[in-house]
Amino acid sequence: MTAPFDLTLEQLREHRSAKWSRVPADVLPAWTAEMDVRTAPAVADALQLAIGRSDFGYAGDPAPVTQAFAGFARDTWGWDPADGGGRMRLFSDVGHAVKEILGALTQPGDPVIINPPVYLSFYPWLAGLRLTPLEVPMLDVASGGRLDLDGMARALTSGARVVLLCSPHNPLGHVYPREDLASLAELALEHGAVVVADEIHAPLVHPGSPTGFVPWLSVSDAARQVGIAVHSPSKAWNTAGLKLAVGITAVEGRWPQIREEVDWAPSILGQYAAIAAYTDGRDWLDEVRRQLQERTTRLADLLAEHLPGVRYRPGHSSYLAWLDCRELGLGDDPAATFLERGRVQLSPGPAFGAGGSGFARLNYGTSEELMAEAVRRMARAL
Ligand SMILES: Cc1ncc(COP(=O)(O)O)c(C=O)c1O
Repeated sequence: MTAPFDLTLEQLREHRSAKWSRVPADVLPAWTAEMDVRTAPAVADALQLAIGRSDFGYAGDPAPVTQAFAGFARDTWGWDPADGGGRMRLFSDVGHAVKEILGALTQPGDPVIINPPVYLSFYPWLAGLRLTPLEVPMLDVASGGRLDLDGMARALTSGARVVLLCSPHNPLGHVYPREDLASLAELALEHGAVVVADEIHAPLVHPGSPTGFVPWLSVSDAARQVGIAVHSPSKAWNTAGLKLAVGITAVEGRWPQIREEVDWAPSILGQYAAIAAYTDGRDWLDEVRRQLQERTTRLADLLAEHLPGVRYRPGHSSYLAWLDCRELGLGDDPAATFLERGRVQLSPGPAFGAGGSGFARLNYGTSEELMAEAVRRMARAL
């Protein structure tokens, strides 16, 4: 297996993707959630196949994609998303899926429960639908995070009927234990609420995660009754630009009224890539997950050496580190100082909602060398 993180800085600077092209040439990007990886051979071959066939039309039959996803889910998590009379639908990306689903479930002005500090795009997605974020902050963030079940109960009792759950949690990397998910499902059932589970980071749970990933629709009968899950190969296989996500319900009739034209939104290249990733891209993914887990230890060491004032508790999934920079005295948005004086771009903590002030999110989905350079640049900003 070639080392997936072997792209050089020179090669990466040529990328036209957001992470690399939307920063000035002297800035090292460690912000938006793209990895600096060489594409999985299976995915590259599938894209070559599409090119060879000149097969660039509209998205086709969803069945090969949903079957490939179901096979991956069965083998990886022991969950069969095709079980129980539910249905899978394709969307162009997770943002598209969540917005279509929320749009069908809500009226403008409705509250939607989220758990900050949380994936920053949840806020503009809700704002675009004129929905009101009802924040139930994560507890014990310094120890890795925990769902506030009492807070969720209060929010549901206050009348909120939709939960947008980020599982695993971005930016904390927290992997929810089954008991917490089961308790949330009971609460949602009791209050007639729907849980939309954004599970985009699920395939990137680290091999050493104590709990392992528990898919929402595998938690319990209650969870299946109240839930809609959204998956995509786009984070794990780094194919965000290929535009493909899968929405899943486990119960007949659970889907809200989703517009017909949604079926035309995914990209056919995303379909090629997804089938290959879920079927033949598993060894590559295992190597990436192993290296990401290794990076967390190295990152903790680097921070202790160069930035002892930063508090970091490694999460158990994905490649995003939530850094508590409050002791550095850089104000609400330390990422602004790191950018201005260190020429390294992190994501600004305040954009992640309540509890984000004084924090920044670092993307360590890169080579060890570039991760070390990011930390050195942060230290130089002080
Ligand atoms: C939790 C979460 N959901 C959704 C997305 C966006 O996914 P997509 O590009 O499929 O809309 C991201 C991207 O980082 C994410 O972290």
